[in-house]
Amino acid sequence: MPNSPTQKRIFLSPPHMSGTELEYVKQAFESNYIAPVGPQLKQFEHVFREITGFEHCLAVCNGTSAIHLAMRSLGVEAGDKVLASTLTFVGSVSPVIFQNAEIVFIDSDRHTWNMDPNILEEELKRLAVAGDLPKAVLPTELYGQACDLDQIVKICDQYEVPVVCDSAESLGAHYRGRSVGRDAQAAVFSFNGNKIITTSSGGMLASDDADLIEHCRYLATQARQPVRHYEHHDVGYNYRMSNVLAAIGIGQMEALADRVNRKREVFAEYQQRIGDLPGWTFMAEAKYGRCNRWLTVATIDPELFGATHEDVIVALEAENIESRPVWKPLHLQKAFSQFRVVGGEVSTSLFDCGICLPSGTAMDSADLDRVCKTIRSVGNTSR
Ligand SMILES: Cc1ncc(COP(=O)(O)O)c(C=O)c1O
Repeated sequence: MPNSPTQKRIFLSPPHMSGTELEYVKQAFESNYIAPVGPQLKQFEHVFREITGFEHCLAVCNGTSAIHLAMRSLGVEAGDKVLASTLTFVGSVSPVIFQNAEIVFIDSDRHTWNMDPNILEEELKRLAVAGDLPKAVLPTELYGQACDLDQIVKICDQYEVPVVCDSAESLGAHYRGRSVGRDAQAAVFSFNGNKIITTSSGGMLASDDADLIEHCRYLATQARQPVRHYEHHDVGYNYRMSNVLAAIGIGQMEALADRVNRKREVFAEYQQRIGDLPGWTFMAEAKYGRCNRWLTVATIDPELFGATHEDVIVALEAENIESRPVWKPLHLQKAFSQFRVVGGEVSTSLFDCGICLPSGTAMDSADLDRVCKTIRSVGNTSR
């Protein structure tokens, strides 16, 4: 329990409305499309395409369902393999399990924290020799950092394996000057409540491949045939986004550029205020991209700092400040113990000492002072 209940809680990454959302929600009500179809849903997809540059997109009820649609559409089924990042959120790979397929986890690159392309290449080479190539490769773009997509796609192209980018945390981030995920077969974004923009819950599947998006649109709407009565040749899902939530998304997209700038400022402020602390290393920005800094993340060397990341999390919580450890690698999770990991040491070491700091875009200077003062009170530097 916090010692300072009178102090307002500082959350990790709370929703931040632009102010126009209610007007769009009102329009949704006026249209009476209180349904997973309607003008705001169309407009949200249009705005999303305009801002990200993707040619086609499909708004769905969350990021997990978008990944599921991509897996299903790429023909991932029982007995197939998918190579995925191990350092990620469970929703990234659970759709592989929904398809009864197998996961092979790939370790992180120490510099970017994302899937290590060298390990991926070695594993693909090995699987090609064994005649057991995967149906897809699923790299996560972690905490707003683009993965090295040119390199990943080049490797996968040699084996004709499609890449689906899990960009759930990275909307607004750039890879070589364009939106993340652009050169993958498809990319997935999340609008969960803690993401850089939110529709409370929601997701987007985006691609330049019209057929893939159309097929997923069909699957996401119960795979209904285009006839008057209800005719089904396949079993689909009820995965479309609500028109009311899409209205929130339109207002949120208007603020995306500002949110990215503010997330980057928050990161810079942390660097300025606590960048001198011994043992602290912030996640570096890869040279090829522009991070959206969804969360400011760092590792702490307890020998140098005199306290562990756990000590810091506990101290922050006592001050009513939310922080959390880095994702626990999925190859260490009981739910996935039957699957192989290639490497694993880097992601494990990031989990062992990594921390996610509060990164809300509405945080002010006083909030940042509170967080940084508490952090300073924990380690060697307090004295
Ligand atoms: C990396 C990653 N993948 C997938 C998801 C799943 O998205 P959703 O929560 O919208 O289903 C999330 C976040 O929630 C995520 O962070």
